[in-house]
Amino acid sequence: MTKEELCRKAQEMLKMAYIPYSHFPVGAALECEDGTVFTGCNIENAAYGPTVCAERTAVFKAVSEGHRRFKRIAIATAGEKMSGPCGVCRQVLHEFAPDLEIILINCKNETVEYTLPQLLPYSFGPADLA
Ligand code: THU
Repeated sequence: MTKEELCRKAQEMLKMAYIPYSHFPVGAALECEDGTVFTGCNIENAAYGPTVCAERTAVFKAVSEGHRRFKRIAIATAGEKMSGPCGVCRQVLHEFAPDLEIILINCKNETVEYTLPQLLPYSFGPADLA
């Protein structure tokens, strides 16, 4: 899948976001090493705390379907400002894909790319417990 196709999939998920409280939609498309793509959106909750981010929705969908090796994730936001994954999502992504490529995309189809080590330096993960 091309970068553009992965980004479109993330953007398509913006409309699925359940965001009655923040009104801030986020869409994600997570590409597995075998090419399978799992998408996600943020899902909010009246109790706030149970809210799940788009990135974690995608990761949990993938892992629950037997996929644990990931190559790239595209994360779409609706405005002009690009938003990186929150700290909790960075940690969850690190569990399965410490070298993950991260693409952020805004409403003007502008992108920036990072690697997870750039966004989560001095990380803690499975290797630390080995
Ligand atoms: N959100 C995400 O979906 N991903 C992030 O990495 C940052 C925040 C969501 C959670 C909440 O529904 C809304 O954005 C505002 O925080």
